Amino acid sequence: MPAPAFLGGLIFCILCYAVSMVRGKRLPPGPRRLPLIGNVHQMPKGHPWLRFTEWKKTYGNIMHIDILGKSHIIINSAKIAKELLDKRSSIYSNRPHFIYESVHYDEPFALQPYGENWRRQRRLVAQDFSLGMTPRYFSLQEKEAAFLVRTLLQEPDKLFSEVKLRIAIIIMRVTYGYYIQSEDDPYLTVVLAAMTNFSKATAPGTFLVDFIPALKYMPRWMPGSGFLKTAEEWNKIFFDSTMNIFDWCKSNLDTGKSLMPNLCGRYLQNAGGKMPEEDEKTLLWAASCVFGGGLDTNMSSALTFYMAMLLNPKVQAQAQAEIDSVIGKDRLPSIADKPELPYIRSILAETYRWSPAAPLGIPHAVTQDDVYDGYDIPKGATILPNVWGMLHDPEAYPRPMDFDPERYKGSDSEMLKVTDLVFGFGRRVCPGIHFAEGTLFAIIATTLATCDILPGLDENGKEVLPTYSYTPGTLTTPEPFTLRLRPRSAGSLALLVDVPSTIE
Ligand code: HEM
Repeated sequence: MPAPAFLGGLIFCILCYAVSMVRGKRLPPGPRRLPLIGNVHQMPKGHPWLRFTEWKKTYGNIMHIDILGKSHIIINSAKIAKELLDKRSSIYSNRPHFIYESVHYDEPFALQPYGENWRRQRRLVAQDFSLGMTPRYFSLQEKEAAFLVRTLLQEPDKLFSEVKLRIAIIIMRVTYGYYIQSEDDPYLTVVLAAMTNFSKATAPGTFLVDFIPALKYMPRWMPGSGFLKTAEEWNKIFFDSTMNIFDWCKSNLDTGKSLMPNLCGRYLQNAGGKMPEEDEKTLLWAASCVFGGGLDTNMSSALTFYMAMLLNPKVQAQAQAEIDSVIGKDRLPSIADKPELPYIRSILAETYRWSPAAPLGIPHAVTQDDVYDGYDIPKGATILPNVWGMLHDPEAYPRPMDFDPERYKGSDSEMLKVTDLVFGFGRRVCPGIHFAEGTLFAIIATTLATCDILPGLDENGKEVLPTYSYTPGTLTTPEPFTLRLRPRSAGSLALLVDVPSTIE
């Protein structure tokens, strides 16, 4: 396409977007928009949930912002989120499609439009990680939690990398039957590279083409077209990260190297080696969502837990007292002990609340025009539940920045109000919730049962406490901090050492 025609087309597209957006609509209130760019100039570089929480004071519980002509509805109250995303889930379960023009992330169901393909993939994962199925993985989760603590006792500086590695090991093992042996494992490094690219690609503004699809026709010689090559490379990494490990699982079912049970192995075996190509493709992409959905989220919550413990030694002490009185000192706590440990459950809920891994959830999109409380919600609008804001609303959670497990008064229904928001909404609700809870519970209970969690030391030997500070992005993780673990007793150390290193 010649350059002037291309630019003309581009401007036309932008104008069409903008005009179609505003005509005759009674949109929810929001900050004033500028022509063409809308509210882009008011969007902070990171942590938009903080700005949205601030804006709530002016615009209320449902707001509208405009990003380059595209409507975004920000929901600031749990009640409205439930009314729209849960109760009207038949029309609020789509995903916004703007990220798909650059790298083809639209195969895994987590990002797929609402529809049959999404449903077929999701069913596979939801079944394999349902409440009744997850106990199969308890011993793996408990063992990896113990290995994590054992390593951190020796090498506390490895906090971030070791948490990531242990969670990755669990996920690869349950998805493909593959046991990662080290951080340099090529199946792991490729998937981590794909995830890094993914978070870059989906950060608004990385690829303008995602907002202005006409840019994909840009001639390669044109300055500024470098994104086409980048997108091509990222596509390859993305496909490799999905295919290679799946192929490994398939070809190692008969050799016995693929450890059972695992998600792919189970479905492949059930098909008796004759899975139709279409079903295999469904399984392949469904499986890729487990890593994408489970790694950063679980890692974020595990690190938030450690941060919260460093800042709240009294909470640690109370948790240890509960474990000592219910479990005793002769064995490690197990995930099956969860019903008997209300204070540990409260710590888990408070970890989710204090810093939800996805502060704005994962965006939904609405598939038809809708009206809520007299406001128009235009078809195609992106819906962003401000989960962080809801969980830091001082009316629902007094002194919201305090990490206070007591606020639930041991009530599971109060804790459920938190998990109900943190794991998403309606038909898109996280299918990994029970599995995720198992991993986190094991990490929390094992660490507290065996160790005191102490601040790291600076070069002068002075203790350094972390600050509540998180990375930007759809999924957010604590900024680096350090800690030290001290065994609570010779006995607790022995319990950790006794955990056999055999792979299962
Ligand atoms: C602390 C851990 C986790 C948190 C906080 C979390 C949170 C979320 C959230 C907020 C969503 C978006 C739901 C929505 O669109 O409304 C989601 C979706 C999803 N999660 Fe999780 N998740 C966690 C762990 C996991 C694990 C371990 C898995 C592995 C099975 C997983 C797999 C997924 C998948 C596949 C989706 C996409 C669902 C869909 O689009 O239909 N998550 N999760």
